[in-house]
Amino acid sequence: MSDTRTDESRSGDYGGSGPDSTPALEMEAIRKVYEVADEEVVALDHADLTLAPDEIVALIGPSGSGKTTLCSIAGGILSPTEGKVVVGGKDISGYSSKELTGFRRDSVGFVFQTVNLIPFLTARENLLVVDEIGSRDRKRANERADQLLEELGLEDRAGNLPSQLSGGQKQRVAIGRALMNEPALVLFDEPTSSLDSKLGDQMVRLIREEMKSRGTAAIIVTHDDRITGYADRTVHITDGRLEA
Ligand SMILES: Nc1ncnc2c1ncn2[C@@H]1O[C@H](COP(=O)(O)OP(=O)(O)O)[C@@H](O)[C@H]1O
Ligand SMILES: [Mg+2]
Repeated sequence: MSDTRTDESRSGDYGGSGPDSTPALEMEAIRKVYEVADEEVVALDHADLTLAPDEIVALIGPSGSGKTTLCSIAGGILSPTEGKVVVGGKDISGYSSKELTGFRRDSVGFVFQTVNLIPFLTARENLLVVDEIGSRDRKRANERADQLLEELGLEDRAGNLPSQLSGGQKQRVAIGRALMNEPALVLFDEPTSSLDSKLGDQMVRLIREEMKSRGTAAIIVTHDDRITGYADRTVHITDGRLEA
């Protein structure tokens, strides 16, 4: 009799009770104030946002409206000045910086505008570096990296350095890296802004496929109205305030 359920067997299993109905993200009454010299910059105010377990939200707003700040708070990079942040049922609002580091490693994925691949590591090594930090099972990490590279159409690019990859390929490596830890939530901060419109379109389509096939929630920050067609819902942000 072995009914031991590991995290692994539970992920992606919709037959069970409970965990899958937990929102991927709940942000309540978030306020973020940056102190700059003698000035205070209110980057977010009264921000409420809830994402269903597999929901893709497009977050649209002008430059300086608070999009990156919101993603940073949802991903535990920054703590809010006020308000509550719950990710996959975990209330991270009161986490210490050490707890936040563990949370980021285990529970969220990030894809930034500037892809941030490590230039002296190959595509495959850029995926594995996540796991080095997490110091998990090496064999499983290798398998997962190879599987992701294949899914993303990068199997014959695995040994290439970032400088030997196109813009779209680098973005795909970044997506693979964000998925290495099987996150409940992936935050894409302007993932298409360095791509031409055709590649940008392909990228968002790929993001949607990857998220939907895993039942993973995502926020996609964008200036690009065309991208909203690939999201389940669009949320607008202006001067730190959200509107549906
Ligand atoms: N580290 C920081 N220190 C001070 N002010 C910041 C910092 N980061 C962002 N801001 C300010 O907060 C506001 C929101 O910025 P940001 O979240 O980066 O917006 P967006 O991503 O929509 O361009 C802007 O007024 C910006 O200047
Ligand atoms: Mg930004």
